[in-house]
Formats: sequence, C-alpha cells, structure tokens
Amino acid sequence: MPTIRDVARLAGVSVATVSRVLNKNGYVNKDTEQKVIKAIEQLQYMPNAVARGLAGKQTGTIALILPDISNPFFPEIARAVEDVAQKHGYTVILCNSDDQGQKEQTYIEMLRKKYIDGIIFASNTLREEDVQQMQANKIPLVVLDRALANRACSVIRSRNYEGAKLAVTHLLEIGCQKIAHLYGPQDIITARERMLGYEESVMHFPWYTPSLMVPGYFSLDGGIAAVKELFAKHGDVDGIFCGNDLMAIGALKGLHQLGIRVPDEVALIGFDGISLTQITQPELSTVAQPIYEMGSLAARVLIEMITSGEIETKLYELDVTLVGRESSRRSS
Ligand code: RIB
Repeated sequence: MPTIRDVARLAGVSVATVSRVLNKNGYVNKDTEQKVIKAIEQLQYMPNAVARGLAGKQTGTIALILPDISNPFFPEIARAVEDVAQKHGYTVILCNSDDQGQKEQTYIEMLRKKYIDGIIFASNTLREEDVQQMQANKIPLVVLDRALANRACSVIRSRNYEGAKLAVTHLLEIGCQKIAHLYGPQDIITARERMLGYEESVMHFPWYTPSLMVPGYFSLDGGIAAVKELFAKHGDVDGIFCGNDLMAIGALKGLHQLGIRVPDEVALIGFDGISLTQITQPELSTVAQPIYEMGSLAARVLIEMITSGEIETKLYELDVTLVGRESSRRSS
C-alpha cells in the first residue's frame, strides 16, 4: 500500500507539500501540484477518497446534513438516503448540524475542496449566499424538507400548508368545537406553513383566538409543556393539531398527566407520520409526509447531478396523507 512518503519521494517534494496539496491549504505552485497529483495516480494512492477528488475524479461520498438526529423523522430520512446511495455505490457521511451554521460551514468547505461529491441539506441554517455560491460553482446540492426563499438549487419538500388544512378539517369533521395548535419554531418554514394552514382554517370561527396557538418547539418536552399552558388558558379545547409528531406524543403524555382522556375529551393529531405514532397508546393520528420517498428522491436527484455534471434547480412538492387513528376516533 503506497504511503504519503512514497508519493512525496516520487514527486520529489516534501511530505508537507503533499499534505498541503491534499488539504488545499498553504501555497503550492501549479507545477508542484501537478507532480504530486501525477505521483498519486502513478502509485495508485487512490483508495483515499481525498486523492480521488483532487485528481478530478469522484470520491463516491455524499454528505447528509440533518438538524436534529434525535427526532425520528430525520433518521427515517437518512435510512432512505443511504439505501439509494448504497445502491449507486456511494457512501453517506451523516452530519447533525444541531442547527448550528458553523457545523454546516465545515461540510460546505469539504465540498469546495472536493472531499465529497455533493450534499443533501435538511437544515435551517443554510445561508442563501452559500447556496448561490455553490450553484455558481456548479456544486451539486439538494435542499430537503425546508425551502429557501430565493431558490438556486433543487428542493424536495412536502405540502405543509395543505397538510395543516387536512388536519383541521379532519378534527372539524369528527365534531371538534374548539381546536388549538401546538406550533414548531417560527424560524423554520415548515412550522410557519403549518401554522398558517391552521390559522386560515379556523380564523372565521367565533371561538378562534390567537392564544389557541402555543409554541411546542418541535420536541417531546415542548409538547408536554405546551399542552399544559394551553389548558391553563382554554380548558374547553376538544381538538389539538400539533405541528409535528414529537410534539403530539408529548401532548399525549401531558394530557394524560392532566387526567384528560384522548380521544374522548380531546382529539389529537400530529404531522410527519413517523413510525413511533403507531405504538403510542392510543395510536396517534397524523398527517404523513412521504418520508422515505423524500429521502430517496433527494439521493436520486443528487446522484444524477453528480454523474451527469448538470446542476438542476427544480422544486419537488410531495403530497401528504391524512392517517386517522385512535387519537382522533370518535363514536358519534
Ligand atoms: O419533526 C421535525 C419537523 O421538522 C418535520 O415535521 C419536518 O418536516 C421538519 O421541518
């Protein structure tokens, strides 16, 4: 197996120079860089993905940037991305950005240095200027789940607004008289769209008041706290639409702690369609996003861009489905 020392010897340069070429940091003149790349190729220092990228070939690696790996929605997305990637011979690097822009920047930098062939972003902190710059440099990327205002890349997402309307219509149809909404972080567009869908569905009812909307931060604990805050203000609520399934599971727990029965006293519906909703007691109704399809489509679109060299900027909006289960079943 050739080592970096062998490369340095053959190219007639120091190990530090080879390393500078590999890492693209520090100055190396063009001739020296070519010598190093030639030595890498001659010695077939290729198993290293970095070297392949530098030699203008593909690394066979893509990155998937997720905002919160502890939310089961995102591992379900990752599963789909990995299945498709593997079928096409790609390895997936997973990055949990924790919604921190700095972590994302590290991956964008890797992409610029050609350590990876493309990125799927499912995060909130991606900056418009980064997207535009990557687009200008013909760098393959796909944005998943969260749309950008000024889109210069392909985006794959669900119909959130329509999904929220489906949820509220369902609660009205089963006879709910006062419906509340637990909403996600307002800096996340999906949360805003779902909130808008709720508001526009209920604002004409005499019972509607903005305090029926309570923040639940897309989390379990957020759902528990939100439902308690809600019932402290509105003890007569009989239907709740939660902006995601984790909040709905939290709300279920909070309602149980308050001694409120689901669905008899309060009907509950979430959003996402994660597998966990099938094992809660009662099983949870949800507006299901096509999670697997979202992830697999993102991977296919990205790999197509990488292999064809053509950058696509298309919007894929996928339909959501109402899944009615015990938490919103009423015997009329
Ligand atoms: O549960 C996490 C939520 O964040 C999902 O609903 C997804 O669509 C995202 O925006």
